Amino acid sequence: MGREIHSVAVIGGGTMGSGIAAAAAAAGWRVLLLERDREATRRARERTLAQARDADEQQAIDRLLVTGTLDESLREIGEFDWICEAIVEDLDAKRALFSRIEPWRREGSVVSTNTSGIPLRAITEGLPDRLGRDIVVTHFFNPVRVMKLLEIVPGNDTDPAVVASLSRFCGDVLGKGVVQAKDTVNFIANRIGCFWMLSGLHHAHRFRNQGIGIERADALLSAPLGLPATGLYGLIDLIGLDVMALVGRNLAANLPEGDAGLAFTRFPAEEAGLLARGQLGRKSGGGFYRVLKGADGQKS
Ligand code: NAI
Repeated sequence: MGREIHSVAVIGGGTMGSGIAAAAAAAGWRVLLLERDREATRRARERTLAQARDADEQQAIDRLLVTGTLDESLREIGEFDWICEAIVEDLDAKRALFSRIEPWRREGSVVSTNTSGIPLRAITEGLPDRLGRDIVVTHFFNPVRVMKLLEIVPGNDTDPAVVASLSRFCGDVLGKGVVQAKDTVNFIANRIGCFWMLSGLHHAHRFRNQGIGIERADALLSAPLGLPATGLYGLIDLIGLDVMALVGRNLAANLPEGDAGLAFTRFPAEEAGLLARGQLGRKSGGGFYRVLKGADGQKS
């Protein structure tokens, strides 16, 4: 069966979905970007256009990008070759979405989930066999337009033609370096990355309890963790505190009992407080840097 990709539908236009949509449209492909309501759709469009590298590219993206709500535009999915899910990192939400789109999908289209680490088999379990054959994980990294790495994770039932087609498209058209991973919790990069990020956060928290400010704590931890100067707090602000907490939660749910990594799957209390107040990082206009740095300033 031909699995050629000439158009892309992205569902969820947040940090990652907007990056994937921008990359595909900038490369000259028609993109449909669906969100849950009109306000979220408007913001997703703005976010996608903001990722253009210059005015010409912004015009090109504007021309190729169609946005809409899931309720109003779901049937249009049938016109698209690759359907890429980039909604919240929640197993039930992802499963509900795939059940919903399956009837509208055309034969031969390919599907992917941009999950950070939920096993693919948990997402597809009990859903139509056709979905199991047509789906892989495409785990892009943030920011999508900058980060070259892409993990592609097939499931047990995935048609090899789907893996080949998406690897080709993401490699040749989007310029990614594709690594194929096994369907294990958090795949390769996040299985390692989450531990050092979350354990690093626990260390950073200890520094801050000793009165060390956020920038100094980041400077102390950046080099040993192999991070750029924006550091660990800066990275988590970019990822989103909510996303990081959900990734930790899913990791905890999937690790075997007694695994040493379980201790590092939870946010320390101060971070949990930011989360509870909706201070999620760059996307909400404030996370560690805006909020905690402000608090550092008041102490000194
Ligand atoms: P985000 O919170 O920035 O965006 C999620 C978007 O999906 C929001 O705009 C929201 O309105 C929309 N949405 C949520 N539930 C929906 C539903 N049921 N139907 C339609 N739209 C819905 O999240 P982000 O960071 O873009 O993450 C998306 C996925 O990518 C998650 O699975 C996450 O784990 C994964 N990921 C995130 C990375 C990061 O650094 N933020 C890196 C790699 C993967």
